[in-house]
Amino acid sequence: MKRLVVLVSGFGSNLQAIMDACADGRIGAEVVGVVSNRKAAHGLTRAREASIPTEYLPYGPYRDSGRGRQEYDAFVAERVQAYRPDFVILAGWMHIFSADFLVPFGDRVINLHPALPGQFPGIRAIERAFEGFKAGEITQTGIMVHRVVPEVDAGPVLGTTQIAISESDTLESLSERVHGAEHDLLVRVLADLCAAA
Ligand code: GAR
Repeated sequence: MKRLVVLVSGFGSNLQAIMDACADGRIGAEVVGVVSNRKAAHGLTRAREASIPTEYLPYGPYRDSGRGRQEYDAFVAERVQAYRPDFVILAGWMHIFSADFLVPFGDRVINLHPALPGQFPGIRAIERAFEGFKAGEITQTGIMVHRVVPEVDAGPVLGTTQIAISESDTLESLSERVHGAEHDLLVRVLADLCAAA
């Protein structure tokens, strides 16, 4: 049984998909810890309801005391390491990690991003894809799961799903399809990774 630590900043629907898939055996792993940089992240509530240990690790105190990003990243890495994870999953984690976080875990940090490789890195990816469609620049978007490197939303790709955009789409309907596809892809990739590790 592999050990997963999941990092979240918000709603936590992908965390929920992972927890559900671990519970019913689709992923041969257990979520042993959930970390958030936002106190109000609903993902923390989901984890507590599932009796999974949680940590709230805000960046603010580091920034305010001049200790900076690298020290924060190293601190989060140390706290995550205490759970002895086989994989660390960034599932809606909205803080860009430097190498100071990544080094202890090698290539075992996995990120989910709501755009295809090389397209719309960073925040508001679905909105920007929808704007690109309306401007006639793209006809489809997608999602990817990849190994994390210091560049934002980039790194060796483990899986993608393409999602067509149609004239009848609204941002809401597109977002709904993207999130549904994310839950499927993330579970499939993690199932394969855990089975192979
Ligand atoms: C997901 O759409 C995920 O791809 C995105 O945040 C959302 C989190 O949803 N991540 C990024 O944009 C990372 N660059 P959730 O909290 O419901 O799982």
